[in-house]
Amino acid sequence: MAEHQKLVWIIGASSGIGASLAQLYARSGWRVAVSARNEQKLKELAQDATQFDVVPLDVTDSGQVAAVIQQFHDGGKLPDLTVYCSGLYYPGGIDVLTEEHSVASMDTNYFGAVRVIEKLFPLLKERGNGHIAIISSLSGYCGLPEAACYGPTKAALINLCESLKPDFDRVGLELSLVNPAL
Ligand SMILES: NC(=O)c1ccc[n+]([C@@H]2O[C@H](COP(=O)([O-])OP(=O)(O)OC[C@H]3O[C@@H](n4cnc5c(N)ncnc54)[C@H](OP(=O)(O)O)[C@@H]3O)[C@@H](O)[C@H]2O)c1
Repeated sequence: MAEHQKLVWIIGASSGIGASLAQLYARSGWRVAVSARNEQKLKELAQDATQFDVVPLDVTDSGQVAAVIQQFHDGGKLPDLTVYCSGLYYPGGIDVLTEEHSVASMDTNYFGAVRVIEKLFPLLKERGNGHIAIISSLSGYCGLPEAACYGPTKAALINLCESLKPDFDRVGLELSLVNPAL
């Protein structure tokens, strides 16, 4: 990787918005580290470019999150931008509302982001710069039909980012909250 090439780490890059973002950043000349559980899909995304690093990761495993971030740190290249895209969506209302679905949704959508921020923030602070972008959802602003397990996880993310913004500002780090429709 060229010394001044920027590095974006996209978590939840094996499909959808994360995969599209990865391709967009690679085309714009960034080095792109792509994470998700499905290593095969990440490799397919990365196959036709020398711009990608495939970094398999399950965000529900705090040991894996810590190890991946330590790997960036030890390699002397923490991401300039980290985009947290990982998401789990059980479409439905009362028909899908179980403790199991709700806990699983919270674990991936909310606690995964917490794990990443907890481990990355001190290292970015030490470096003196860095940007974390959290993909939440408009459904976090008010309860929508078909989002009984999903919406509360996105509300939690919005609240978390609002709460943490002054801490990032104080040390010169950037925190963005992105709320696509639905
Ligand atoms: N698409 C929309 O219209 C829309 C609207 C509002 C908000 N959003 C939000 O935008 C984000 C991306 O949405 P999308 O539509 O692109 O969804 P998607 O295609 O289903 O992608 C979700 C990504 O999350 C990853 N993921 C799920 N569980 C994971 C885990 N335990 N560890 C690591 N990665 C995990 C998936 O990869 P693996 O399965 O390989 O792990 C996949 O790469 C989500 O947070 C979603 O809530 C999307």
